[in-house]
Amino acid sequence: MSIQQDKWTPAAENHANRAAKAIDWNRLTKFPTIGIIGGGQLAQMLYQSAISLGIEAHLFASAADESAPKYFRDITRASSESWTPPEIYHFAQKCDAVTFDHELVSPNIVRELEKRGCLMLPTASTLELSANKANQRQRLDELGYSLPPYNICNTLAEIISLGEHWGWPIVIKPSTGGYDGRGVFVVENESEANSVFNSLIAHLPFVVEPKLIIDAEGSVLAVRSTTGECLAYPMVKTLQVDGMCREVTSPGDFPEAITVEAQRVAENLASDLDAVGILAVEFFSIGGKLVVNELAPRPHNTGHITIEANITSQFENHLRAVLGLPLGSTALRVPAAATVNLISSSNNQNIIPRIPHALEIEGASLHLYSKSSRKSRKIGHVTVTADSVEKALAHARLTVDRLSGLELSEG
Ligand SMILES: Nc1ncnc2c1ncn2[C@@H]1O[C@H](COP(=O)(O)OP(=O)(O)O)[C@@H](O)[C@H]1O
Ligand SMILES: [Mg+2]
Repeated sequence: MSIQQDKWTPAAENHANRAAKAIDWNRLTKFPTIGIIGGGQLAQMLYQSAISLGIEAHLFASAADESAPKYFRDITRASSESWTPPEIYHFAQKCDAVTFDHELVSPNIVRELEKRGCLMLPTASTLELSANKANQRQRLDELGYSLPPYNICNTLAEIISLGEHWGWPIVIKPSTGGYDGRGVFVVENESEANSVFNSLIAHLPFVVEPKLIIDAEGSVLAVRSTTGECLAYPMVKTLQVDGMCREVTSPGDFPEAITVEAQRVAENLASDLDAVGILAVEFFSIGGKLVVNELAPRPHNTGHITIEANITSQFENHLRAVLGLPLGSTALRVPAAATVNLISSSNNQNIIPRIPHALEIEGASLHLYSKSSRKSRKIGHVTVTADSVEKALAHARLTVDRLSGLELSEG
């Protein structure tokens, strides 16, 4: 997509010289303004941290049913679901730095804004990788990281020959358009591969993998600042159901050597990709060996646990990183914690009357995303801290069961 030149303001050229420059706090006379593109729950939780730091926050969002617009005072509403480059540019000009709630913004637009002097973090080149699974895999491969076995396929014949080579079932992941397992297709045979291929042809090329036997899944967040300071969070363990993250426990019960390796990989990746802010790295443990599944250059669902469990949350550290502030400690401040996502079981599910009963659970922290219920939609999460992972997980599950109406009150 190209920027419509005629709609750019004349200030664009002057502004350009400011490109990629970190905020100089010594020269600030007023609090900086952070711009956030996208109005989901990540924007909502970033805003909560911005309030604590005294940072002004300005949101760019569509008018859709989203979390954050309900809370922000300064909002630029996109004219439609398809955001135009000039309107993003006018928004970005009002901000000292712009960050993202999701990676669905075209990297080409972000690159144009960078050229015109806007401080966009993460940068277009980091976003470009995360927005395309095939590019991401190839880049990680070139950089020498351990990955699951995979091939990049452009034709049905290539996919079928991989099915024959590895044995069915195999897994097809279109390069764009998938999240929360919605872009992960397990196909059992040629005919299923054929129908997935034809229905997703617009998202070629595909990453194709064998269906792996995964011992456990984990994730590590790295946070890297505009100054280059970089820290890794302790590794968490994650459980996915139907490709969607359901539970997170911290600390993850991986062997020490695995945890240390995963933290080192996450820090190296952040620097190799020149990421700024949170970089979330998802790992599979396969036969006791660690491989990188994928990454996301933003606060991540597996990092929500840091709000209660770590000295500095992923949201505060993301803001500190983007704004060039010293990073906060990533260490755990409790012995153990668990997060369980609250996922709608149906459309129009009403959890409100169940909230009091759910919050009777000791240590339960509730985070609701202000989203209407839609079957399989993530509408919130619960975190519980405790002296053991088992206890934290049991209490977090119980809280979510009560909210979902799965656990009936005794009294
Ligand atoms: N090759 C595979 N074999 C088995 N399970 C897989 C494979 N790839 C992905 N999965 C499962 O699906 C989940 C989502 O896949 P992922 O590649 O992370 O896509 P998404 O972008 O939807 O998160 C993973 O966390 C894992 O549980
Ligand atoms: Mg994933």
